[in-house]
Amino acid sequence: MAIPPPAPDSTCLVTGASSGIGAEIARELARRGRGVTLVARREDRLRQLADELTRAHGVRAEVVGASVADHDGRAELVSEIESRGLTVETLVNNAGYGSGGRFQDLDADNEEAMVRLNCEALVGLCGVYAPKMVNRARGAILNVGSTAGFQPLPRQATYAATKAFVNSFTEALHTDLAGTGVTATVLCPGPTRSEFAEAGGLGTFDQLPSFLVDSAENVARAAVEGLESGKRSVIPGAGNVLSAFGGRFAPRSVLLPALGRFYPVK
Ligand SMILES: NC(=O)c1ccc[n+]([C@@H]2O[C@H](COP(=O)([O-])OP(=O)(O)OC[C@H]3O[C@@H](n4cnc5c(N)ncnc54)[C@H](OP(=O)(O)O)[C@@H]3O)[C@@H](O)[C@H]2O)c1
Repeated sequence: MAIPPPAPDSTCLVTGASSGIGAEIARELARRGRGVTLVARREDRLRQLADELTRAHGVRAEVVGASVADHDGRAELVSEIESRGLTVETLVNNAGYGSGGRFQDLDADNEEAMVRLNCEALVGLCGVYAPKMVNRARGAILNVGSTAGFQPLPRQATYAATKAFVNSFTEALHTDLAGTGVTATVLCPGPTRSEFAEAGGLGTFDQLPSFLVDSAENVARAAVEGLESGKRSVIPGAGNVLSAFGGRFAPRSVLLPALGRFYPVK
């Protein structure tokens, strides 16, 4: 089993655990008896979830209110975890956001900050914890990419590029870690019900056929099952497997104009 077994001082660090997929991944891990360290900016939400997980599963659930988007915030998070005497044996880099619109119309600072959160924070935390896991010869890393990363997406240009980075980085990391006892898995969800669409100014996914939109619970279950078996990548749902295939292999000259029309954002 790729997820190290429960131990009193062992924890699963989950970023972006205050809503959506991150909260559900924390629930899946707690259901399997693992202690969790929940990280996001909305500390009140994290506390509610921590109480729920301790009550329901008897696990230790820690809360650290922090932004992982900047180097100092991550350094504080890492030292806070150390000072609590915890060893991160499972790392879930889930915090992320998107945006919608033609790149030239979007807030440039917000696009830049998205790269820092979606890419830099994830590499930063892998950089802190992967070597420690390798020294212990055990550990599991789950990075949340997206099917958006399998092709360029007009009107989500930065977001799709950040997720292409996450998908590529994690697949390579999986191979770099081969034989060390540590695994890296990339989760590539398609459209999923959470706060993501609203937070990114994408409205809702209501315009999509309902069979194309998954629940955060289903996505999290697939993710943690993939993590347990040390998979390189997890693409939940047959529709998303197909769209990932199409995104990778369809000629860009056909795909890009079609996607530009498909995404009904400003
Ligand atoms: N929903 C989808 O359709 C979909 C599809 C593919 C991939 N994904 C990916 O799945 C991941 C989770 O998204 P979601 O759908 O669950 O969206 P969500 O409900 O909006 O959750 C995003 C989480 O990230 C946290 N976050 C945002 N900025 C942060 C920061 N600077 N520091 C720490 N935490 C931060 C948020 O918490 P606070 O605001 O409290 O900090 C929240 O817990 C993201 O990486 C997203 O790109 C989503």
